[in-house]
Amino acid sequence: MATMKDDVLAALAKVASPQGQKLTETGTLSDVVVTDGKVFFSITVDAGAVKEWESVRERAEAATRAVPGVKSVLVALTAERAGGGGGAAPPRRPQMQPGAARPREGGAPSPAGIPGVASIIAVASGKGGVGKSTTAVNLALGLRDLGLKVGILDADIYGPSMPKLLAIREKPQTIGGNRLKPIERHGMPVMSIGFLIEEETPMIWRGPMVMSALTQMLREVEWGTLDVMVVDMPPGTGDAQLTMAQQVPLKGAVIVSTPQDLALIDARRGIAMFRRVNVPVLGIVENMSTFICPHCGTRSDIFGHGGARAEAERLGVPFLGEVPLHMDIREKSDSGQPVVASVPDGPHAQAYRAIAARVRDGLQVAGRPAPKIVIEA
Ligand SMILES: Nc1ncnc2c1ncn2[C@@H]1O[C@H](COP(=O)(O)OP(=O)(O)OP(=O)(O)O)[C@@H](O)[C@H]1O
Ligand SMILES: [Mg+2]
Repeated sequence: MATMKDDVLAALAKVASPQGQKLTETGTLSDVVVTDGKVFFSITVDAGAVKEWESVRERAEAATRAVPGVKSVLVALTAERAGGGGGAAPPRRPQMQPGAARPREGGAPSPAGIPGVASIIAVASGKGGVGKSTTAVNLALGLRDLGLKVGILDADIYGPSMPKLLAIREKPQTIGGNRLKPIERHGMPVMSIGFLIEEETPMIWRGPMVMSALTQMLREVEWGTLDVMVVDMPPGTGDAQLTMAQQVPLKGAVIVSTPQDLALIDARRGIAMFRRVNVPVLGIVENMSTFICPHCGTRSDIFGHGGARAEAERLGVPFLGEVPLHMDIREKSDSGQPVVASVPDGPHAQAYRAIAARVRDGLQVAGRPAPKIVIEA
């Protein structure tokens, strides 16, 4: 039975390029993402050809809208940056055009890996504000403490956090004309989508821009040799997240949830999304688990306790551990000194390192090539 995506592709085959070719055979088309009747894809062309392609974009959108069952369509026309540097000084900030995606040949189902990077893992949640970014940065530091070479990629298009969490005020420099040198923090290379997308970029463009920004961050950055790259994902399970999960060659996903039911419902959606794109779920972290009063040490379970562990069991995914709701974690995060780096001997750092060890173990058993593990003596 033909899927909606097949129907959309068949409709797009009837749209002609300015040269009279079938749009589907021009190599300009990104993967077509279909979620609940919403269709999203992009057309990437040379910067000089954008004008003549605008009518193709419009016809592609109209043809897609006419496919039965399609509720909404978003087609982005992306101008590919002109290659080479031509001797001119490279821009400090890469010039991004509103639009998306370099085409993946034939809409291949799994994107190619990054040379030198053994494993890429996503830290995600269905719900916003549950502590993904805090977990991502401390998990990365925990993995680093286990002796792994770790990098951090902040892919949160709606609110990049790494500049704040790691007190990064500088912008990455370009090297060799068109490659970027990541910022180095705590021995880890760090890149943030915040470096590539201007703050004023309207939200509506951010979804479509994500693919080209991601491609750039994955392929045009000197990451060096990494055992694990930790990706801080934007909240939610919408089109942008799904696209991202498909575009980044992920080895696994870590789902962060607070213990209460509402967050767990969203965590479940997150897990379903990764399963749908065949990314193994490495497990769930229960963040803001127990509240420990900084004055009297009393424990109280503000959001309940143990919900994520029970949910993990129910869904058949590993439970990776609990992180308490603690003032130190918030203060250190917000002042750019994540707790694993600033209080490495404290209980929070220990909790994150235990989670990191389970993540590392999970990567080894995910049935895919394991990262090179180097444990310090
Ligand atoms: N275990 C914790 N204890 C105390 N504060 C925490 C904890 N985890 C996160 N926070 C704080 O909660 C706030 C939200 O955390 P964070 O930004 O990591 O969430 P997020 O899920 O990445 O949010 P978003 O969905 O906006 O990206 C931050 O101020 C952070 O310092
Ligand atoms: Mg975040």
